Amino acid sequence: MIIKGGTPLKGRIEVRGAKNLATKAMVATLLGKTPSVLRNVPNISDVRVVAGLLALHGVLITKGEDADEWHFDPSNVEVAHKADIDAHAGSSRIPILFCGPLLHRLGEAFIPDLGGCRIGDRPIDFHLDALREFGAVVEKLPSGISLTAPNGLKGANIELPYPSVGATEQVLLTAVLAEGQTELRNAAIEPEIIDLICILQKMGAIISMEPNRVILIEGVDELRGYDHKAIFDRNEAASWAAAALATKGDIFVGGVRQEEMMTFLNAYRKVGGDFDVHDDGIRFWHPGGDLKPVTIETDVHPGFMTDWQQPLVVALTQANGTSTIHETVYENRFGFTDALNTMGANIVVHPNGLSEAGRRVKRREFEQAAVITGPTPLTAADVVVPDLRGGFSHLIAAMIAEGESKVSNIGIIARGYENFIEKLRLLGADFVFEA
Ligand code: EPU
Repeated sequence: MIIKGGTPLKGRIEVRGAKNLATKAMVATLLGKTPSVLRNVPNISDVRVVAGLLALHGVLITKGEDADEWHFDPSNVEVAHKADIDAHAGSSRIPILFCGPLLHRLGEAFIPDLGGCRIGDRPIDFHLDALREFGAVVEKLPSGISLTAPNGLKGANIELPYPSVGATEQVLLTAVLAEGQTELRNAAIEPEIIDLICILQKMGAIISMEPNRVILIEGVDELRGYDHKAIFDRNEAASWAAAALATKGDIFVGGVRQEEMMTFLNAYRKVGGDFDVHDDGIRFWHPGGDLKPVTIETDVHPGFMTDWQQPLVVALTQANGTSTIHETVYENRFGFTDALNTMGANIVVHPNGLSEAGRRVKRREFEQAAVITGPTPLTAADVVVPDLRGGFSHLIAAMIAEGESKVSNIGIIARGYENFIEKLRLLGADFVFEA
């Protein structure tokens, strides 16, 4: 994309269902005896990758009358050829969640090497340890992981070392059909997980949320299909909100709810952005005047999401003073700031974190901090998108930079942002796109 900066983004766009729910809801269809219907499905490449893997395993996928309504018929689930599965290697992280459902349906599973953004090591030890607790036998192969369950899957007592989103989903998708009760402690409780629990409950599962991050799951003998509208994408919503702030624009983001955005909205207000909550979405705008610096620590829900920091950092380059972002979820999520510095930003990344006064308790061994001093005018540059959220932040930076920037490798952004080129056009961005 060749982007000419300086145009405030203004207008209305809609966000669709969350990438980080829809893809998991699609995996859950494998657990049902009857077909499922998922509505509000985003048109993003991660959804297409998961659809490809489901189809390989015999799930019949058709579209409903609306393009965002997908039907999944799991009547003929079958073992897929390893070579066909391998073709999906490196394309997404979702395949790891096929383990439990495939073990229940077929007694075996082969999972290709995972993909996803390079924002840290992203190990899967919590997933594999939990699966072993259920009775799965895990074999690591050069090209992926092979699993069997010679004695079936049985409920387990599991405590996660960290409230991992993926590992919590792994346990849920496995426990619902495992024999007996599962107690999961230190579970993640992100809104997308609650939405997945709602889906599983519709399917016939018995899952209770207990205080203090404990989830109890009573295994049942069978599940049916579901009909569900996916929760909106909080990350997409925060990205457009940040774009409105950075470009001094005014964007009505349709489909967004306040409840799941509360933590973000507080930070937005502290930085100097304004918003108005409506029944059908939230209007975000720059009300004029200086933006203010903030200190933010990313965290698990209900904290400030790690995925929200990248787009907000672009707006913080325009704030009057020094902001600090402590990244506590991933150990390497500031790579995108190199390109912002090339464009004129003043961002210093501290790979081992900062233990400043005023911080809450340090959460993890690996922490990074970025110190952003503004305001710095940005100038156009050629940048290569490194990852999904960082890539969107590069788009925003190019939208405010003086001159023409060339942003390449934007295919990564399509993994999680539905029709973002069309949405940018609707908002009046000045760019040329060469496919
Ligand atoms: N972790 C381990 N071992 C594991 C699993 C996780 O050490 O077995 C660590 C991770 O390395 C990380 C932390 O635990 O440091 C949290 O990881 P988590 O498992 O919660 O993340 P995830 O499930 O891999 C999902 C989203 C991410 C989002 C995080 C945090 C999906 C597909 N991805 O990742 O979204 O940042 O939760 O909310 O749901 C994105 O959308 O761009 C994205 C990266």
